[in-house]
Amino acid sequence: MDSRQAEIYLVFTLATLFIVAILLYFVFRIIQKQQQLMRVQRQVVKVEMATLEKERARIASDLHDDIGPLLAAIKYRVAVVAPDTERDQKELDLCTDHLNEAIVRLRQVTHNLLPATLERRGLVEAIQDLAASTEQLHPLKIELITDLRVPLSKESEIHLYRVVQEGLANCIQHAAATCFQIKLTADRRALSLQLIDNGIGITKKVPADAHRGRGIAGFRNRATMLGGQFTIDSEPEKGTVLTFVIPK
Ligand SMILES: Nc1ncnc2c1ncn2[C@@H]1O[C@H](COP(=O)(O)OP(=O)(O)OP(=O)(O)O)[C@@H](O)[C@H]1O
Ligand SMILES: [Mg+2]
Repeated sequence: MDSRQAEIYLVFTLATLFIVAILLYFVFRIIQKQQQLMRVQRQVVKVEMATLEKERARIASDLHDDIGPLLAAIKYRVAVVAPDTERDQKELDLCTDHLNEAIVRLRQVTHNLLPATLERRGLVEAIQDLAASTEQLHPLKIELITDLRVPLSKESEIHLYRVVQEGLANCIQHAAATCFQIKLTADRRALSLQLIDNGIGITKKVPADAHRGRGIAGFRNRATMLGGQFTIDSEPEKGTVLTFVIPK
């Protein structure tokens, strides 16, 4: 190779290296931008969910503090009425029954919006409460298996509780299952929550980001928010297993 050829070779090599460096730089910038975008999206969803929880708490306390005493007052006034006829007495008894029903329902709604047990006694007892009250209303056997000893952060507890609430609601609405198992286990590094039913399985394709913040899309958002993973394992007629693995 004479000196002219060596020169051309050198220039060619340098130009190639330069182009590769520019390409690498752009690829790096694109990856950086995407990571930035994902961080912003995660932040937005986090704020949305925090706002949603705050709003739920506000509605729960409004219902509890305004409508609750009002219903109790009406019940009291109805109780002191002395009807003249048997027909009126029957009407009043009917009113009292409806009022009692409304008071119970109001308590259920406020409890769903802001489970007091979760605030006071933590995730495991709140799930036990939810399981017990659901079993009273639906023909479903609910089992909680857990070895969780230490309390989690409030944020994790509320996310995991909402996941169990929605998983159970989905099981009742869609699965036609007879058993629903909640497995909540932890080791030194991660926490795992599995919701298992023996129903018909998820038969239709669930879009990745259907109605954000609700149902299965909400599961994904909450798992991402806790820096964890969410997977669905389901086959027709073989039930559904939802798994969340969250780093501790
Ligand atoms: N445990 C389950 N067994 C069978 N199918 C399920 C189960 N969970 C979800 N599905 C199916 O997946 C779909 C999506 O569930 P998702 O919770 O996202 O929405 P939804 O329950 O239909 O509405 P939303 O939760 O917003 O009220 C359901 O419509 C249902 O077809
Ligand atoms: Mg649902």
